[in-house]
Amino acid sequence: KKILILNGPNLNLLGKREPEIYGSLTFTDFFESIKKKYNTVELSYFQSNIEGELINKIHEVGFSYDGIVLNAAAYTHTSVALGDAIKGIETPVIEVHISNTFSRETFRHHSYISAVAKGVIVGFGLKSYELAIQSFL
Ligand code: DQA
Repeated sequence: KKILILNGPNLNLLGKREPEIYGSLTFTDFFESIKKKYNTVELSYFQSNIEGELINKIHEVGFSYDGIVLNAAAYTHTSVALGDAIKGIETPVIEVHISNTFSRETFRHHSYISAVAKGVIVGFGLKSYELAIQSFL
C-alpha cells in the first residue's frame, strides 16, 4: 500500500517548537522509526509551509495512492482550498493532529478538513499518525 504523510506549516520545527505541546522528537526521527515499524507499507513524507505546495501534492498523489495522512496544522482552521482539494481527489484522507485541538483556543475547534476526511484522529501526540496508518491496513 502507498501512503503519504503530509504535514503543513511549522511542523518542520517539531522537536524545537513548543515541546510542551508537540513533544521533543523531530519528525524526521519519528518518520524513520515508523518506516521501519510499518515496513510492509510504502510510506512517503512531504512537508511544506506553503498552502499551494500542499494542494499540488494532494493533486499529485490523489489518484494513485491508497491513503493520505494529513496534518494541515494551522491551515486546518483557515483553508477552504485544502478542503476543496481533498473533495476533488479519489484517495481517502485521514486528518490528524498531535495536540487535542478541542482543548485549546476556540479558533482551533473548526476544521475545513474534517467534513471531507474519511476520519479524524486528534490529540494522541505523534501516535495520531500511527493510528491513521493502521486505519489504512
Ligand atoms: C496541530 C494543531 C493546529 O491547531 C496547529 O496550528 C498546529 C498543529 C496539531 O498537530 O496539533 O500547527 O495541527
